Amino acid sequence: MAKIIKPVFILISIMLSGIQSFAQTKSMKELIQANFDFARAQYKVLANNIPSEKLPQNWDPKTGKIDARDIQWWCSGFYPGSLWLIYEQTKDETIHQEALRTLKLIEPNKTFTGNHDLGFMMFCSFGNAYRITRDNAYKDILFQSAASLATRYRPEIQAIQSWNKNKFWDCPVIIDNMMNLEMLNWVSDHGGDKRYKEIAITHANTTLKNHFRPDFSSFHVIDYNPNNGTVRRKATWQGAANSSAWARGQGWALYGYTLMYRDTKNEAYLKQAEGIAAFILNHPNLPEDKIPYWDFDAPFMPYAERDASAGALIASALLELGQYVEGDKKRLYLKSAEQMLRSLASDTYRSKFGENGGFLLQHSTGAFPLNSEIDRPIIYADYYFLEALKRYKDWYL
Ligand code: GLY
Repeated sequence: MAKIIKPVFILISIMLSGIQSFAQTKSMKELIQANFDFARAQYKVLANNIPSEKLPQNWDPKTGKIDARDIQWWCSGFYPGSLWLIYEQTKDETIHQEALRTLKLIEPNKTFTGNHDLGFMMFCSFGNAYRITRDNAYKDILFQSAASLATRYRPEIQAIQSWNKNKFWDCPVIIDNMMNLEMLNWVSDHGGDKRYKEIAITHANTTLKNHFRPDFSSFHVIDYNPNNGTVRRKATWQGAANSSAWARGQGWALYGYTLMYRDTKNEAYLKQAEGIAAFILNHPNLPEDKIPYWDFDAPFMPYAERDASAGALIASALLELGQYVEGDKKRLYLKSAEQMLRSLASDTYRSKFGENGGFLLQHSTGAFPLNSEIDRPIIYADYYFLEALKRYKDWYL
C-alpha cells in the first residue's frame, strides 16, 4: 500500500506545486537574487554536514545522512564549483574559504587518468576559480588536467575513451563525455597545446556520427572495437532501455554541442544542438513543469521519478543556445529555461532552509537501473541550477 501512496502523493504535490510555480509573481531578478541568498545560507549547513576529506554527493531521506565521496568520484568538482558560483554573487567570505579548502582537496585529480571525467571534476571547480580570480596557479592546474584527459584519446576510435575496458564494454564512450570537451577547448584557446582542441573536435564529430538517432535523441553508451573503431554496440547504462532517451544524457548532449558551437562556430554543432533542443521541448512526455522524468521513456509515467538535475542542466544549456539564435527560437529557449528555473525554485523542488542536508534541490535521479541515487538531492543539480541562474542574470536581465 505504502508503495502506491508514495508515488501518488509525490504526483499530487508536483501537480499542485506546478500550479503554484506558474502562479509565481516574482520577477526573474528577484528570483535569482533570492536563490543566491538562500544558497549562501544553505551551503553553510551543507559545509557543516560533511567530513573534512570528502565531497558531498547526495542526501538520503531514509537515513537523513549525507553520502560524501572521495575526490576521484566524477562529481568532486561540483561542490567547489557551486561554492565559487555562490561566492561570485554574494562575496561571502565563509563560502570563499570553503571553496579554497575544497579546491586544495581535489587538486591531486590533475594527474588522474582513470576515466574521462576530468572536465567535470576540474573545469567546474578550477575553471570557475580561474574565471573569477585570474590566479595563474589555477590555470596551470587546468593545463595539467587537460594533459591528463588527453591521455584517454584513442586515435583508433577517433574519440576519448570514457571508461576502461571491463566485463560489459571493450572501449565505451558515453554521451556525458561531451561535457569534458570544454576544458580541452579552453586550454588550447588560452595558450595551451592546440592538440587538445583538435581532440575535442574529433571526438565531437565521431559522437555526431555514432551517438544519435534520426530524431536527435542520443544513445547513452557506444561501445567501440578499440582496434579498428567499428561500433560494437549501442546501449545504455543509466537509461531505461538501449533504445530509450535517458533524460540527463539528452541534457549532456544539448550542453555539449552548444559549447562546441561556442568554441568553434561550426554550424553543424549549432544545428545538432537545435535538433536536440527540439527533441526535448516537443517531447510528449516532458511534464508541464518542464522538469523531465529520469528517462523520456521511463516506465510508470506519470508516477516515474523526475530528474531535477536534467532540468537544471537543460535550462543552463538552453540559456546559452538562446545566445546563438534569433526570433521564435530564441524566445522559446528563454521561455522554456525560465519555466524550468521557476519550477526548480518552487517548493516542490527547492529545499527549505536547513533541510535535505543542506543541498539546494530535491528530486534528482542518478542511476535508476542501478538502484542508485533515486529521487534525491544530488550535487550536480545544485551546480547547474546555480550556473543557469548566473547565466540568466548575465545574459537576459
Ligand atoms: N555519468 C554521469 C551522469 O550520471 O550523468
